[in-house]
Amino acid sequence: MSGSSERKVNETVKNLNQKASNHNKSNYNKSRDTIQSEQKKQEVLVGDLSTKFRLHQQCHHLQKLLTVERLLPAPLAEYSSFPLREALRLFGSVVTWIPLVHIRSLPYWIKDWQNLLRIYPEKNCILQIHGRAEDFREFHKHLSYIEDLVKSFPNTVIALDINAGCPMPKIAGKGSGAGLLRNLNELEEVVKIVMDNTSLPVTVKCRIGFENWQFDKIAEILIKTRPAMVCVHTRLAVEKYSGSASRRWHLVKTYFKAMKKEGIVTCINGDITDTATFLRALAEAGSDLAAVGRAQISTPAAIAQISGRLPNKLPIWFEAASLVLFLILTVNYFVRTESSRNEKVTNTQRALSFFKRFVWSAFKGARGVKGFRRELAKLDWSKISYLIELIFSFVKTNYGQEEYNRMIEYLSKVTREFT
Ligand SMILES: Cc1cc2nc3c(=O)[nH]c(=O)nc-3n(C[C@H](O)[C@H](O)[C@H](O)COP(=O)(O)O)c2cc1C
Repeated sequence: MSGSSERKVNETVKNLNQKASNHNKSNYNKSRDTIQSEQKKQEVLVGDLSTKFRLHQQCHHLQKLLTVERLLPAPLAEYSSFPLREALRLFGSVVTWIPLVHIRSLPYWIKDWQNLLRIYPEKNCILQIHGRAEDFREFHKHLSYIEDLVKSFPNTVIALDINAGCPMPKIAGKGSGAGLLRNLNELEEVVKIVMDNTSLPVTVKCRIGFENWQFDKIAEILIKTRPAMVCVHTRLAVEKYSGSASRRWHLVKTYFKAMKKEGIVTCINGDITDTATFLRALAEAGSDLAAVGRAQISTPAAIAQISGRLPNKLPIWFEAASLVLFLILTVNYFVRTESSRNEKVTNTQRALSFFKRFVWSAFKGARGVKGFRRELAKLDWSKISYLIELIFSFVKTNYGQEEYNRMIEYLSKVTREFT
């Protein structure tokens, strides 16, 4: 960014800060008049302040977790369900994301999830919601469900995230997800509604614009509304997942700086695939943390490798064993949860079709992986044991008996600990 445009941005931010402070002052004066004139409203205000105090404490908890973590798994619809979230936790991720729950279906979704939470407890999840501005105008209807969830399962949901980035026609085309970026007044309205109506910290995940660069205007809104965290995927919505996000990391730096001044945690996202890109993204965007999307779809240990908790090159026995453990976790979860929509599909089939998405991109760059994928394509998917056999024989054939023995040894040790 050139010196003059940087100055311009700084000026905008200064104006924004001034505006925010005037806004607060006038709000304060209004509240003072109200207190003096009406006793009843005073009680409401006190209640409101105590909620704000609680909110402040919760934001502090979230922000502490986030800044310790520095690398988050980004939400991936159809992937980030319980088995992946649990695998991520096993490999050290503290915070995980639950993707794309439509605001209108939130009450039913929460009820279902509460039943599951009794069997599969979870902690520190960011629950992502989406909808059009007009759906959010009815947000108050869902409050009791959210409050009930928070009370019954403390620290399970630690933030509500507003999706302002999903580009898919069935979402953005209806004005939800990245559709909110087509009319920034709606984005502002949605963020305000959610922030004013929940005791949970609110975060926003967005893109840098819909068809064109709009992040200056988006940042203006976010600095004004001050969510707890802003996560930016540095692509335009129309680009979907193509083009380079990494070339644009540096473009958000000035805005992130201004956000941080307001106490907003910043998170950069897009094209982070290894430790080098993770560190570069943090530096170029001047970001507090980073989120990894598609790189999660290989080994469930990918995030731990990128963050440096595990080495970049994993021994094949460990990768294979992790995959088998992830398969066991997946099957266990799907088999124990009711298949609600399609009675013709068994829970084992559901588990396998979920797992298939990961196994195809497993063992990237490993010796003999092409042969493994060929065998995978021919596999009779009716039995889980066939799949485990295939993974075992891939290790034995390409890496030898010793590697195979280590895998079996590790698996028997871990599964013994599980049971
Ligand atoms: C299959 C898939 C599903 C996704 N689902 C969501 C979602 O539900 N919510 C969301 O905010 N982003 C979603 N994303 C976007 C990712 O979170 C992330 O922003 C994007 O993939 C860019 O990061 P990456 O380059 O590391 O993959 C999805 C992306 C993919 C590929």
